[in-house]
This record gives sequence, C-alpha cells and structure tokens, in this order.
Amino acid sequence: MKILVLGSGAREHAIVEALLAEHAGHEITAAPGNAGIAAQVETVSLDPSNGRIVADYATDNGIELVVIGPEAPLVAGVADVVRAAGIPVFGPGKSAAAIEGSKAFAKRIMDTAGVPTGRAIRATTLDELVAALDDLGAPHVVKADGLAAGKGVLVTEDRDAAISHAEYYLQYGTVLVEEFLTGQEVSLFFLSDGRDVVPLSPAQDYKRAYDGDQGPNTGGMGAYSPLPWLSARWGSEAAFVDEVLDTIALPTVRTLEAEGTPFIGLLYCGLIVADEGQPGDSAVRVIEFNARFGDPETQVVLPRLTTPLSELLLAAATGGLGRLPYPTFSDESAVVVVLASEGYPENPATGREITGLDEAASVPGVTIAHASTAVSEGRYLATGGRVLGVVARGDGFASARTAAYDALAKIGLEGGHFRHDIAERVVR
Ligand code: AMP
Ligand code: GLY
Repeated sequence: MKILVLGSGAREHAIVEALLAEHAGHEITAAPGNAGIAAQVETVSLDPSNGRIVADYATDNGIELVVIGPEAPLVAGVADVVRAAGIPVFGPGKSAAAIEGSKAFAKRIMDTAGVPTGRAIRATTLDELVAALDDLGAPHVVKADGLAAGKGVLVTEDRDAAISHAEYYLQYGTVLVEEFLTGQEVSLFFLSDGRDVVPLSPAQDYKRAYDGDQGPNTGGMGAYSPLPWLSARWGSEAAFVDEVLDTIALPTVRTLEAEGTPFIGLLYCGLIVADEGQPGDSAVRVIEFNARFGDPETQVVLPRLTTPLSELLLAAATGGLGRLPYPTFSDESAVVVVLASEGYPENPATGREITGLDEAASVPGVTIAHASTAVSEGRYLATGGRVLGVVARGDGFASARTAAYDALAKIGLEGGHFRHDIAERVVR
C-alpha cells in the first residue's frame, strides 16, 4: 500500500517503524519527517497543516492511505480536505478533532455521553475564574480551552499562580477550572471508524520533567507498557480495557456520530484510575481526550502490536473496524526514555550535536525513535525540546530498563537531560 504519514516527531517515527515491521512492501512517505525517519523511508518537505497541499500531493502520487500524526493538522481540518479528494484518511475531521482542540467541547461531549470525568467550570472573566477556583478548591487545575502545545494546563497549590496562568489564557478565550483528580494516570488508545472502536494496550506516561514527578509538565518524558498493576487489580488487562471501552470510548464515539461529526482515527483516552479504596462513584475517569496517538506512549504500544498496523488504520479510515478481531500484543515489556534538550520545556537549546546513536541502537532490544533531529554535514543535530526516545523491549521491565539506560549512556548531547525513574515502579 502507498501510505503517506504526516508529522515530524517520535510518534510518526514509531508509526513508520510499525508499518515497516509488517514486511508487507508498503511504499511509505513521511511529510516532513525528521532525520531518523529519513534514514528509513522517503520524506518530502511539505506543510502537513495545509490540506490543499497534502491532498494534491496524495492525489498526484497515488497515495492509498494518509495517516495524520499530530494534532495541529487535525484541528486545522486537513483530514476533511483529503477525504473530500476521495483518499482514505486515518485522522478525524476538524469538527471531531475539537475533542482535543477544545477542552470545553470535550467536556460537553462527555456530559452528553455520560462519560465519567471531573467537575469543570468554564470561566470567561477573571471574576468567574476566581469564583471557580474558590468553589473547587486547591490543588487548582486550570486549563486553556484551545491547543497550547502542552503548555495550557497548570496544576498547582498556589492560588496566585493559578490566577496568573488563567489571566494569560483568558486573553485568548475560555479557561476551564477542573476538579483535581488523584490516582494513577493511564493512556488508552482506541481506533475508531466513526462508529465502532477497537482498543490498543494501555501505557503510562511520565508528564513531569524531573525524577519523582517533580518540575513542570512536559509533552511526556517517558512511558512503559503494559501496566502489570492494572491487570492485577482488574484481573486482566482485557477486563480493564473492556470497562473503558463500554463506559468511555464507545459512548464518546457514538455521541460524536449522533451529532454528525463522526470520529475517524485514534481516540486517546487520558484516564485517572483512583487508588483502591478511595471513595467516589467511578474508579476510572477521563482527564483529557486527544485526537491522535500519544507521544511518547505510542513508542511503547506499537512495538508490542502483533497485528498489522496498516490493516487497522485502513479499516478505521474506510469503515468495517467492527468486523476485525481485536488487535493482539506481545507479552514483552516496553520502556521508552525521552532525551530532552537543555532548558526543555521552558526554553530548549537547539542546534547541538547528538553523538553515539549507532552505539546506542546496537544495544540488544533497543531502537531509537527520533523526535526532533536533523542531519547537517553528516552530523545529527537536536532541533527541538524532546530530541529522541530510547525504546527498549525485554522479557520483563528490569531488562528493558537496563537496556534503555545502557543505550542512553552511549548518547552524547551537551546539556541533555532525561528521567532516571521511568518504569521503576513496575520492577519487582
Ligand atoms: P492535559 O493536557 O489535560 O492532559 O493535562 C496535562 C496533565 O495535567 C495531565 O496529564 C495530568 O498530569 C494533569 N492534570 C490534568 N487535569 C487534571 C486533573 N483534573 N486533576 C489532576 N491532574 C490533572
Ligand atoms: N503523552 C501525552 C500526549 O501525547 O498528549
């Protein structure tokens, strides 16, 4: 199949790797891709957020499936333009992508669908905001309504900090104040064809920049999959996944369908699992929806997938997902540790050389997913905040972690930093 993958991060690299791992002879093109992706497949430099340009490229080149990786092109409506040109697209149209693009829209859909989530209050003025903060109490959770490149959410005990964060985003529109939810975060992905959904395997992301969940929120500093503690509590992974499918993913997708905005693509359910014995009505609640594969979680979920990814993506894009068996996963443990540039997330230094990539990739079980890299005169350079993900698979989390950290030790990047505690909690 001729497949065009839009995007330039580690998520897209993981998608390309999974398509190549099928050994099905797919002709894959990535746009614009990055240095790691370009080492494996053809890349073209086109603007992935320009629907007309993408649709024309896909038409002219006989593309049979377009896979949209990041949220920006989805929220910009690229899927609508490409779909209108008659080409199958994995990725929701603009209206359905609002499930990620607008936190207020997501909350409304959850209300209509009866999906368990925290209380939220919308504020459009400072007075409303202060009233909402006092109503819900500390810790405060303040969210910008629209896309904010991972910077829109602040969780803090500090009322003044909550107010000034909200003041900034109120200039641009609505702000949401949410009930603070405690428990373990779980990322669970569902493929949807607009009507039916099929689940992937759960992962856990590490959002804070530093060890011990300290420091600012980031796009994600590492992840692991599967989640043994979840299987232990629910009896099996399938039991947990079925509960989320029945109470969250399917009602959400059916509500979007009923509203005339079918969701075709990947529904990312960002969940909080309340600690056992904690009082409350529902153990599993939604903290966010995204309209695309999560990064870095995708880097540990897709390597475990034993069903051909292209068949799933095409079935989602063209309908008929309900006729496919659920995807299957290997029992391997997978860990990804993200290497970030100095200053990430606030003010990442870029343009620095990355060394030791070949040595790192030669550690058994390790692959490197490039996030923001370029090649200049034969040298790899870091071009953004999250530079790469060191992915390791193993027979158990202890060996996967050892491999990932051994590989990281071989990589050089001045000022680069990473967390040392990814998946530590699941090593017995
Ligand atoms: P979001 O962009 O909505 O995923 O929020 C980013 C991160 O902030 C989440 O991964 C959580 O760690 C945290 N967060 C968001 N909403 C809440 C909430 N209601 N309660 C506690 N933590 C939250
Ligand atoms: N890892 C969080 C996200 O992809 O939004």
